[in-house]
Amino acid sequence: MLSNSSNHDSFLPTMDTIAREAGALLMDYFHQHLKVEYKGDADLVTAADRASEVLIRERIRQHWPSHDVLGEEQGLNDQGSDYRWYVDPLDGTTNFAHGFPVFSVSMALEHKGRLIAGVIYDPTRDELFSAEAGRGAHLNGESIRVSQIANLAESLVSTGFPSHKRHKNPNIHFYHQITLHTHGVRRAGSAALDLCNVACGRFDGFWEFNLNPWDTAAGVLMVQEAGGQVSRIDGAPFELNSKETLASNGLIHQALLREFKEIFAGRGIEPLPDPREYKR
Ligand code: IPD
Ligand code: CA
Ligand code: CA
Repeated sequence: MLSNSSNHDSFLPTMDTIAREAGALLMDYFHQHLKVEYKGDADLVTAADRASEVLIRERIRQHWPSHDVLGEEQGLNDQGSDYRWYVDPLDGTTNFAHGFPVFSVSMALEHKGRLIAGVIYDPTRDELFSAEAGRGAHLNGESIRVSQIANLAESLVSTGFPSHKRHKNPNIHFYHQITLHTHGVRRAGSAALDLCNVACGRFDGFWEFNLNPWDTAAGVLMVQEAGGQVSRIDGAPFELNSKETLASNGLIHQALLREFKEIFAGRGIEPLPDPREYKR
């Protein structure tokens, strides 16, 4: 079952099949979990995360045994290969645990430090996003492009908050300010899907602090290949270990960068209404 790794054409179809297989596995757990109902018991969710990564690693090993793999659950398997996979076997775990159907499987492939292919599969909508360096981005086989909205006030953007160490995350300030300066901010709960939604024009931008390479690798390539722009939050070039991510349709990128600069400098901050006054 070895695939030819010198021919990049061969990666996407196999990646699609693997992501769909992992998505089907997640849906089995998802339905099982809904049946037993959420009792504060995260075991089934943890089992779903792990089983999905085991399956994906097994498939990668069958097709490309010499490749390195970095997955969220099992960490890095470094064999010194020029190829490295980034795998988030279940992005949107909190949603999954509560029966909220917004989650995905995310896989990306890097060659000599350059992202060359990415696939993100949403099994609840049967939406398969795929991108290949220099060859565009697709949703279920149809070419996708970022939106044409050039005005921040008319844009719909999204963000996310970490599930751990939330008290150290300043994002609520950014959430508030950017909510006031755009048409709205969504927090859907899967960074990989947020990036896909920028790539296909449903969102005009996305930002988040403290993401990991397995959250962003495939989605960043998706946005770039769909004609969008990705940087750090200060405008510096994005790198997989940058942690912070700002993605957009390109047209509102400068306006978003200005927003972040102003907020970091503490300028133009609208005060949050006092809930005690609101109550009165
Ligand atoms: C999380 C999701 C979420 C984002 C968090 C991530 P996980 O990934 O992408 O949208 O806000 O920062 O950790 O833990 O569900 O794989
Ligand atoms: Ca994730
Ligand atoms: Ca995950």
